Amino acid sequence: LDATRHAYKLLLQGADTLDAAVAAVTLVEDDPNDTSVGYGGLPNEDGVVELDAAVMHGPTHRAGAVAALRNIRHAAQVARLVMEQTDHQLLVGEGALRFAVAQGFKEENLLTEKARKIWLYWRQTRGPSDDWLPPPLDKVDPEVRQYFERHTGTVHVACLNAAGEVSCVTSTSGLAFKIAGRVGDSPIVGAGLYADGQVGSCGSTGRGEANLAGLGSFLAVELMRGGASPLEAGLEVLRRVVKQTPARLLDEEGRPRFDLKYFLLAKDGRHAGVSMWLPARYAVTDANGSRLEEAAGLYHRPPKQ
Ligand code: GLY
Repeated sequence: LDATRHAYKLLLQGADTLDAAVAAVTLVEDDPNDTSVGYGGLPNEDGVVELDAAVMHGPTHRAGAVAALRNIRHAAQVARLVMEQTDHQLLVGEGALRFAVAQGFKEENLLTEKARKIWLYWRQTRGPSDDWLPPPLDKVDPEVRQYFERHTGTVHVACLNAAGEVSCVTSTSGLAFKIAGRVGDSPIVGAGLYADGQVGSCGSTGRGEANLAGLGSFLAVELMRGGASPLEAGLEVLRRVVKQTPARLLDEEGRPRFDLKYFLLAKDGRHAGVSMWLPARYAVTDANGSRLEEAAGLYHRPPKQ
């Protein structure tokens, strides 16, 4: 909510839609309590935070991205500079880091104490076939234990101005405890985000591998171009993902065991959030104020016992 509020304020001051979206995502990247984005994000299996981010500017149809970026918290700002100051669209790993340092970004350790403890507990309890022993339960912070399930959180922000221009940004630390070098959907244009100046935008969060093969964000925007509403387009993309999901990732009722969400914004201001699993909500700020809106989706999680 703070991020969308901030972006909206900048848009009212006349900011470009991409500048506003990057500024909003920067707030989330700075938040040490968000364990899925930027500083404080959960690390890879070696305990090192690796970030993916992409930006896309609707009016010019240009994009920039970074993947597996270490030591630099503002991955979205670096992605924008890839777009603006190189002839490339995607820089990865060591090259992305060198590019960021050349642009004046300061290197820092992105692993907070909270994220380190969560990672250490995952490492210690990963399985019986290694030399790490589980710690006594009374020595483990309950806050750490609740992160035992692997997370795939991400932030996507889309901005639309009064002129009907739309841009969007996606930033993430990716799948918690991933294999070093794993890149998800977030920095892949057409998958983690897509913007078309004539139509609108879409971005995703959730299991990147489920979104990459179908380029869900590109598909959603193309469905909107064909006349689908943001809601219809988002639900259709989710249905296609289900059809393409291998059996090993389906439960006994044929439902994906993972979550995946899309956030769609049409050039005329209509928007929707859709989620494989409900309930889910997304943040909106417009002339009616800031609020969380309910996402639509395919399946309902059973209530927690
Ligand atoms: N959607 C974020 C990721 O899979 O890395």
